[in-house]
Amino acid sequence: MSSEQPASPARTGKPLLDVLSGHVLEKPPIWIMRQAGRYLPEYRELRAKAGSFMEFCYTPAMAAEATLQPIRRYGLDGAILFSDILVIPDALGQPVSFAEGEGPRLPPITDRAGLDRLADQIDLERLAPVFEAIERVKAALPAETTFLGFCGAPWTVASYMIAGKSTPELAPARLLAYRDPEFMEALIAKLVRASTAYLVRKLRTGVDAVQIFESFAGALTPAAFERWSLRPIRQIIEGVRAEVPGARIIVFTRNAGVGHTRVWETGANAAGLDWGVDCAWAAREIQPKLAVQGNLDPLSVVAGGDAMRKGIDTILDAFRGGRHIFNFGHGIVPETPTEHVAELVARVRGT
Ligand code: CP3
Repeated sequence: MSSEQPASPARTGKPLLDVLSGHVLEKPPIWIMRQAGRYLPEYRELRAKAGSFMEFCYTPAMAAEATLQPIRRYGLDGAILFSDILVIPDALGQPVSFAEGEGPRLPPITDRAGLDRLADQIDLERLAPVFEAIERVKAALPAETTFLGFCGAPWTVASYMIAGKSTPELAPARLLAYRDPEFMEALIAKLVRASTAYLVRKLRTGVDAVQIFESFAGALTPAAFERWSLRPIRQIIEGVRAEVPGARIIVFTRNAGVGHTRVWETGANAAGLDWGVDCAWAAREIQPKLAVQGNLDPLSVVAGGDAMRKGIDTILDAFRGGRHIFNFGHGIVPETPTEHVAELVARVRGT
């Protein structure tokens, strides 16, 4: 087990990175999952100029611009590279497209023959536009902003590769994992290798830290969570740190319930919490071991007013005195009024 909790090295001047390095700050740094997105009018304008969503992701100038938009507007402490978790299957040879308003589409892979048709190793040259976008953002980012890269966790990405689209309870992936665990092992192992190489390249190109999105942890039994989620994530983190010693890594296991208490076993520096997690409980059970990130209900920010303010204060009060990164419990939604986000940022910062 590689629980790497660094003994608070010197402050870097980047508050989010400092929390990941073990510092406790008076005010938590803040960023927002899906902060570059459709709730921003400037994003919608840029999006209208791009062709398909994948073309958007693979056009460095556009991806860099989308990344910077929420930083310009709100001065958030973290900038997350505009991209998608599905560039990994795309770069392995399983073509990804987005049906307008319907989400991702991939030709499903459900057996060894399908898996064997994919590339053995990820072709990082195909992802050159992603790395070029990183260089562009890095050159433009304020010195105090922590730059985040990301990938999907193997189980979450595998669920799309198997079903070929979003599936509410991940029935196709869960069934296949029961019926053909050898296939699942092979798919997950391929994704561990690909994700490790991808994150290493992102870190070497210039991101300060990375987040691993396990958006569908909540679909797994405890045994399956151990096998298909915690273990591969731990392998990725060990692999990344073998190449980039001390790499700072956030692991977001959405809807993992008590499973959140086990995220430290992966070696993560921070555990991302969904909005179903009780903050007082997390402050006792999770925060002593690693930083916590979260966990405002995105819909409270659509509503705004007292509902939002109460939600913010509950989180700030519970996590004060420990390592905390303020965020939502999942992505911001397109209906969110931009002025509510401005009020949220000011309240978290006490300005
Ligand atoms: O957070 C950010 O601002 C960075 C960009 C980012 C996107 N996707 C851009 C995006 C990140 C970090 C992701 C991760 C991602 N993508 C996840 C994990 C996080 C989560 O939300 O659980 C998942 C499961 C995906 C797969 C995906 N991408 C789906 C299911 C969809 C369609 C759903 C939707 O919201 O439309 C996407 C498309 C997508 N990725 C959009 C954005 C801004 C919206 C499409 C558009 O703008 O046209």
